[in-house]
Amino acid sequence: MVYVTRRSTFSASHRLYNPAFSDQQNEALFDKCANPRGHGHNYVLEVTVGGEPREETGYVIDLKKLKEIIKCEVLDKVDHKHLNHDVEFMRGIIPTAENIAKVLWNILESKITEGRLYSVRLHETENNIVEYRGAS
Ligand code: NI
Repeated sequence: MVYVTRRSTFSASHRLYNPAFSDQQNEALFDKCANPRGHGHNYVLEVTVGGEPREETGYVIDLKKLKEIIKCEVLDKVDHKHLNHDVEFMRGIIPTAENIAKVLWNILESKITEGRLYSVRLHETENNIVEYRGAS
């Protein structure tokens, strides 16, 4: 197996808040991340596709195509947006890095037809990184 990764960046704001809990419980759980007006991150997204390089091209997946899929399906929809309010596919989901990575996996998996999606890594900060490799 060969793994190829496309790295992208986007900026977005979010608020970590569970509407099932009181404001006090949310503050206890999420601390400053529960601030009512939200806050922003410069996210780094790494999408890795695995497979055998094709005989005809030598590519697992043409990175130009992968770049285009990520741009159309993800970046155009989340960059400079508020994840709690502006992004249809995040509606009703607490926008932690864990949940964002899972949602992005589900969006990208069916769009990637060369190789197979192997992982979605999301860096929320320099030090906090989440990786999702699918349900199984
Ligand atoms: Ni945050």
